[in-house]
Amino acid sequence: MNKIRSIKGTHDILPGESTKWRNLEKTIHDICAKFGHEEIRTPIFEETRLFARSVGENTDIVSKEMYTWKDKDNTYLTLRPELTASVARSFIQHSMKNKSPIQRFYYMGPLFRRERPQKGRQRQFHQFGVESFGSEYPEQDVEIISIAWHILRECGLKNNIKLNINSIGSIECRVAYKEALQNFLRPHLNMFSETSKRRFETNPLRILDTKNQDERLLLKEAPQISSYYSEEDLIHFESITRFLNDMGIQFKIDSNLVRGLDYYTRTVFEFTSELVGAQNALIGGGRYDGLIETLGGKNTPGIGFAAGMERFLIAMANTDGKIQSLKPDAYIICQNADYLSLVIQLSNQLREHGYKIIFDPLRRSMKAQLRDANRSGARYALILGEEEIKNNTINFKDLMENTQKTIPQLNLINFFDNLTN
Ligand code: HAM
Repeated sequence: MNKIRSIKGTHDILPGESTKWRNLEKTIHDICAKFGHEEIRTPIFEETRLFARSVGENTDIVSKEMYTWKDKDNTYLTLRPELTASVARSFIQHSMKNKSPIQRFYYMGPLFRRERPQKGRQRQFHQFGVESFGSEYPEQDVEIISIAWHILRECGLKNNIKLNINSIGSIECRVAYKEALQNFLRPHLNMFSETSKRRFETNPLRILDTKNQDERLLLKEAPQISSYYSEEDLIHFESITRFLNDMGIQFKIDSNLVRGLDYYTRTVFEFTSELVGAQNALIGGGRYDGLIETLGGKNTPGIGFAAGMERFLIAMANTDGKIQSLKPDAYIICQNADYLSLVIQLSNQLREHGYKIIFDPLRRSMKAQLRDANRSGARYALILGEEEIKNNTINFKDLMENTQKTIPQLNLINFFDNLTN
């Protein structure tokens, strides 16, 4: 019979890897809490129209990449391809605006996009992200960027990332700019790719982030969105760049950065890292002041970002980023199965004191247990042979230094504490 395998673009997170995931998750929980953000968990599937309305019908995500099906009651449902829309839906549904003028969230979990799989791009992937609803001011934008920055720093990625930032202006600014851009592009349209031609009609701003070299060359002559900013747009963007400078966060203004989701207004940003490979966007985010209203809520500004967790882990594996070792502290070896009760007791005592302990549940020979202890990466082997049992002692072997010492069993915790402190 053919073996059943995981679906293309999905991955098992195996033991060993899963510890790295937990470490990353812990960092995210800790830092988001420091910024006053609280965790929100929304369902894995939602009504399709939630994403169509917010992310936009003509975006790649909605038009090509969603896993959608017609349910038995004829409603269209979709596995969530991103989380901002779900959090916004939840914000409206639970009337959170009435509870406090500022609502700060963070989240992590799996998402689904039917993209062509490659390194750093999956069909089921994971994001963590933050969203803040209520403030229209630039200090809120900078606070959000600052959360991303702290997490990157804590993960050891501070020196390997670039922050690109842009303002795509308010809605009025974009309407005027869109027309100017279309007027500029129209005479050259026949030299553009099919994708860009389609975008010319549906979302011409997306042409700005084309990867095609000829198109990029031509776009150098294109009108700039900054010429269409309102005074408020300009003040908002200038304040952000000033605050970022004050905080010592380096950034580059990239006037071609537009991002591929329709809900953005004004600020958009991305953190990229060469450590990930071709799919170099680690974090993407921006302001979405019209989103809540689009989804039927009361007008509320908002801003957030999301980061690909797989990409984070690839980047961390390619640097000396902080990935805590989860090797056991000690491996308890015993000569015969009669001592197992003692082995279990000692293991649990040590675990209660915070140590990572394993022992051999296969009742193998002492030689095989010692081999396994070395393979496990444990620093110490605690050996209970006949002599030790007779004298209520334990043999303490440092597997790194290759030294050993016999101590009373009663002193084990103390001995361990003194060693590791
Ligand atoms: P996004 O740019 O579509 O934005 O995704 C954010 C991040 O998710 C990307 O920078 C990347 O690291 C990761 N990512 C996206 N697609 C994949 C994939 N197929 N495989 C692996 N990783 C992927 C959003 O999703 C917005 N909701 C961000 C946001 C939050 N804006 C405001 N608030």
